[in-house]
Amino acid sequence: MKLWGGRFQKETDALVNDFNSSIQFDGRMYREDIQGSIAHATMLGKCGIISQADADAIVEGLKAVLSDIESGKAELTADNEDIHMNVERLLTAKIGDAGKRLHTARSRNDQVAVDLRLYLRHEIDTIKAGILDLQQAIVEKAQENQETVMPGYTHLQRAQPISFAQHLLAYGAMLSRDVTRLEDCRKRMNECPLGSGALAGTTYPIDRWMTARDLGFDRPMGNSLDGVSDRDYVIELLSALSILMTHLSRFSEEVILWCSWEFKFVELDDAYSTGSSIMPQKKNPDVAELVRGKTGRVYGSLMGMLTAMKGLPLAYNKDMQEDKEQVFDAVDTAKLCLPVFAGMLRTMRVLPESMRAAAGHGFINATDCADYLTKKGMPFRDAYTTVGNLVYYCTTHRKLLEELELEELRKISPLFGEDVYEALKLENCVGQRKSYGGPAVSETTRQIEELKAFIADHTA
Ligand code: ARG
Repeated sequence: MKLWGGRFQKETDALVNDFNSSIQFDGRMYREDIQGSIAHATMLGKCGIISQADADAIVEGLKAVLSDIESGKAELTADNEDIHMNVERLLTAKIGDAGKRLHTARSRNDQVAVDLRLYLRHEIDTIKAGILDLQQAIVEKAQENQETVMPGYTHLQRAQPISFAQHLLAYGAMLSRDVTRLEDCRKRMNECPLGSGALAGTTYPIDRWMTARDLGFDRPMGNSLDGVSDRDYVIELLSALSILMTHLSRFSEEVILWCSWEFKFVELDDAYSTGSSIMPQKKNPDVAELVRGKTGRVYGSLMGMLTAMKGLPLAYNKDMQEDKEQVFDAVDTAKLCLPVFAGMLRTMRVLPESMRAAAGHGFINATDCADYLTKKGMPFRDAYTTVGNLVYYCTTHRKLLEELELEELRKISPLFGEDVYEALKLENCVGQRKSYGGPAVSETTRQIEELKAFIADHTA
């Protein structure tokens, strides 16, 4: 018979049994479920709601159930529907009547919310560590490439010269926001719903502060209906993970482009590439492509949860059981992607000559040429037009700006002098961009130092 079988005259249909049960996916929260139950039973004992002897028996029994599950001795079954009822059944089988007192002043509705918060809180810490390690890989690669000149792009058209370090550090900055977003999410998640009961609290003299404190939460949630019906923390985590995956996906897309023969800015390590079954020459960036592809399933989970929650009346509805598979999948995906991406980056060979060669074409020093005239006194807008005309002249004469004779330059503006050639050198174009946040070595050094400090500050 079901734990809730009292008012039923018939067995559950076998199809419904499978359809309704969640043990296949919520079984992974067995540790958190037992942790929450231990805190609850301890509190019931201390508040005199159950006897101290029963509380002790429950706590010992739960510890034994935990080791039975871990050793594979205890079986979790669909007949017992979910992890909460499985654990209660296993406990009662072990310790008898005292086990039946565990569910006093509690409902599965507050129980599942506690379990999931505990579980996700831990997963956030793991994902955060993964991001910090990827940032560390960025620091290492950036340090080696502060003077590696590459084209910076807008519209995927060569725009202005930058360094490879500057490009990598942009991702470092995005990932810092991902870390703090997860920390914010964890902070809001860290309130305890236990004691909300089914929805309306309880008549027993429970101590919600005691259980909240025991379980490492900052405080009990202030409204019992909210306690059982809130899934903001799931949606918020899915949002943060979606944004993180956006960053990894953009980075992946660039790695894929950079590995192509059209760019050849980097070469992936053999250990991080794959071949083709038919084309002998192929070396494919499958890791980056898979990270880009997996981004879609994380977005899918976010949309799935937003849609599942939209329009649900208060308080608990079974629709909410759909939260777990989606958030577990998203968490698993992020945990899978981060280390493999970091490894791909760490082992990636940078090809500075190809980057430099690409930067040499496409007139990416045109802005610097206009800035040169501006510094000689010409208003910037006029300098812009003058250099525009020069670029046109260059395209018709198949020359680069720095290949023009001083005479040719002077015909367009008498402000040009010998020193223009220095101003047009790409290394100087990058080196002179010393504005705060710019690609000059002084600024990439500052960014690297700040990123290192960030990693140290946020490492547990
Ligand atoms: N398995 C359920 C879930 O994941 C636990 C809560 C069940 N509550 C209920 N009233 N049926 O949401």
